Amino acid sequence: MSATRSVYLCQQCGASSPKWAGQCPSCEAWNTLVETVVVRPAPSVASAARNRVHAAAAGAASISPIGEVSSAEANRLASGIGELDRVLGGGLVPGSIVLFGGDPGIGKSTLLLQLAARLSAAGHTTLYVTGEESASQVRGRAERVGAVVNGVGLVATTDLATAIGAIDASAPALAVVDSVQTLSSAELTGPAGSVGQVREVATRLAEVAKAGATCVALVGHVTKEGTVAGPRTLEHLVDAVIYMEGERLGSTRLLRAAKNRFGSTDAVGVLEMRGEGLVEVPDASRFFLESEQPPVAGSAITIALEGTRPLAVEIQALVAPAGYGSPRRATTGIDVNRVLMLIAVLARHAGLNLTGHDVYVNVAGGLRIDEPAADLAVATALASSLRERPVIEGTVLAGELSLSGRVRTASRAERRLSEAGRLGFTRLITGPERGTTPNARTSGAIRLAPATDLREALRLALGEE
Ligand code: TYD
Ligand code: MG
Repeated sequence: MSATRSVYLCQQCGASSPKWAGQCPSCEAWNTLVETVVVRPAPSVASAARNRVHAAAAGAASISPIGEVSSAEANRLASGIGELDRVLGGGLVPGSIVLFGGDPGIGKSTLLLQLAARLSAAGHTTLYVTGEESASQVRGRAERVGAVVNGVGLVATTDLATAIGAIDASAPALAVVDSVQTLSSAELTGPAGSVGQVREVATRLAEVAKAGATCVALVGHVTKEGTVAGPRTLEHLVDAVIYMEGERLGSTRLLRAAKNRFGSTDAVGVLEMRGEGLVEVPDASRFFLESEQPPVAGSAITIALEGTRPLAVEIQALVAPAGYGSPRRATTGIDVNRVLMLIAVLARHAGLNLTGHDVYVNVAGGLRIDEPAADLAVATALASSLRERPVIEGTVLAGELSLSGRVRTASRAERRLSEAGRLGFTRLITGPERGTTPNARTSGAIRLAPATDLREALRLALGEE
């Protein structure tokens, strides 16, 4: 017999409280508690763990020597989409559940439909559960991206039990569930997409995945707060979390692992959204270079590290005399506050005053750069635009600028240096080697040019003033 119980779940942090309150007692967010009636007590991770312990105590567990347990590694299912496999750590692991998060419209459904089609074409059974679109809408997309492969089964439902029934019945190698926010369990009263439902859907699907050899790919839309259904509600319930990112209007899509029980979280995958769906970018490192040769004023190239993957990225800056009122500062792909800081450093330590100028900074290719090692390239692009002087051909820059105008060597400089060399650049301007005096070195065809401060870096990059 199941007792009915009512709890109030915070839609922000997932904390439950026995009675309603205007403010969540745990995360202090306002108006986030929603009543959820639990017919069957929702299985929490903690209680599942407890059950396992009890089962072990009762002698139900079988103990195997670690050497005799087969490794998940052996049975990985390569998707055939190389950039995705790279992020997953070599392919999908049977019996696992992977959350694919991203903004609405970024391309999650497209990617997973293509994934299902690839696996089916390779002889595996796959199932695509759509709660978001009708089966014929999915079919329409499949036609556009060449994913009409008969091995892909389609189920259109928003009922969790129906979805699980379909997975149990067909025991596919891959089950795509699109999306966690549209499915709901009849055993809970909360609306689809509420924290209680989202957690229930993920927990039950994780159980289904673990029980068989099915890999569940769960789609989750990211809310405007930047998380899937409240911070950390889902992340600990799944084996891996892959985020799909990109500028809404650009065509580049990055795949990034935020959590991965079966691989590192350092790998980054690069895909491009085209008319025929998502395609792999052949030489990703070259992809973010839009530069014309010889270089034009206002452009500087840095070697950014996305995870551990070095990518050559072009920073474009435009500095133009401002009209009336306060000058404009606008950026795409880079934090505007970081650029404001660099503008101040340029004024104070390189004598370049941009007070009377509008400033626009753009990262080519729709990439977003968060690492401080891009500082030197951004400052150089600004100076290059202001002075109308291009960066000397073959030059790339990577280094962080401090408020005092000093240059700090970028982390993993060796890695960036060898990538720059591979791409045919001849000189990397960076900070002095840590703990030693500045010292020009050569590695293959590329030269490391250390600069202690911004003024020196600009002189090296742009030639004499
Ligand atoms: P979709 O996979 O539906 O996004 P999500 O599931 O993350 O919400 O992708 C939708 C966008 O992708 C839509 O704006 C159109 C674009 N698109 C293409 O550019 N090419 C294509 O082949 C497809 C199928 C979609
Ligand atoms: Mg979708």
